[in-house]
Amino acid sequence: MKVVVLCGGVSTERAISIVSGVGVCKALRSRGHEAILLDVFFGNEDADLMDAFPEDYDVDGAAKYIHTFDSRVASAVANRSRSFFGANVITLCRMADIVFLALHGENGENGKVQATFDLHKIKYTGTGYMSSALSMDKTLTKIMLEHGNVPVPHGTTVHKGYDSVDIHDIGLSYPVVVKVACGGSSVGVYIAQNDDEYVAALDQAFELEDEVIIEEYINGREFSVGLIDGKALPVIEIVPKAGFYDYKNKYTAGATDEYCPARISEELTRKMQHYAEEGYRALFMKSYARLDFMMDADGEMYCLEANTLPGMTPTSLMPQEAAVLGMDYPTFCEKLIEVSLAKY
Ligand SMILES: Nc1ncnc2c1ncn2[C@@H]1O[C@H](COP(=O)(O)OP(=O)(O)O)[C@@H](O)[C@H]1O
Ligand SMILES: [Mg+2]
Repeated sequence: MKVVVLCGGVSTERAISIVSGVGVCKALRSRGHEAILLDVFFGNEDADLMDAFPEDYDVDGAAKYIHTFDSRVASAVANRSRSFFGANVITLCRMADIVFLALHGENGENGKVQATFDLHKIKYTGTGYMSSALSMDKTLTKIMLEHGNVPVPHGTTVHKGYDSVDIHDIGLSYPVVVKVACGGSSVGVYIAQNDDEYVAALDQAFELEDEVIIEEYINGREFSVGLIDGKALPVIEIVPKAGFYDYKNKYTAGATDEYCPARISEELTRKMQHYAEEGYRALFMKSYARLDFMMDADGEMYCLEANTLPGMTPTSLMPQEAAVLGMDYPTFCEKLIEVSLAKY
């Protein structure tokens, strides 16, 4: 199969997206697919369109080429008139049998790429534009999950310049979580223990975004459940060695212990998988996704959010869950393509 593995871009998750892309591209090549690696934003001006999906291909060389653009990200972000799609990106994607979306963050995950591709008749991995948009915004996610009877932390959403909320008026007490509605990688997530910290957290969050969520802090353990074609994979438990699952603990090797299958009873496992499957449905997901959970000491579970393009490096959470089922990484990547093609 001819596959464009789309990665990079200019979001804060550019670097991790390239790691995902390299992993996926190598895995697909190991299975005989003509996969190529492409930076969604910087594209490839020199692409040979007559032989775009060569049999011999140097994935590491392609990654090196993509990294030559790293130093141009800041000025690219500042230049707001530039198209999100780089040189030859749409052309190459139209030539592929499917585009593997190894993007993370804002424009990859908010549904805009998916909607654009739908209009261009480009096939892609993962869920469609509407579920992507719903899952990008944690306010909408929580509304949809509640509607689907999936428990979420109690809280509210505030908008910059409009409302000030006394946490006691909405039934909360400290600590509370203040987080930007459309962020990722734990950027813009604050845990406030008192009024001063709460006010400071709101100020910092509003520096990043105009929509901010205030919700109860769930004191407990953290889990994640990947789903393929609506079916939950084994649950993984995430245990940061210090603090919560913030940016540093997500991306520093060895900072977090992960246990899959999670060290919880079969009953609790089934319950979490059930909520994950219900949440997937409530958010109109297709193909695959990953939902994040907290569970308190009483076994009460809360879904924090849904990720439509979860990490795809060989050591990311979802590939680890698939491995527990005996699915190795190349098989996992091929499986995601298979369930994604079934959408069309
Ligand atoms: N209500 C909450 N209670 C306890 N911890 C939370 C809560 N919300 C977020 N967190 C912590 O912050 C991390 C990031 O929050 P999350 O909602 O998953 O946003 P992101 O999109 O940045 O991953 C979570 O993995 C968890 O460790
Ligand atoms: Mg998360």
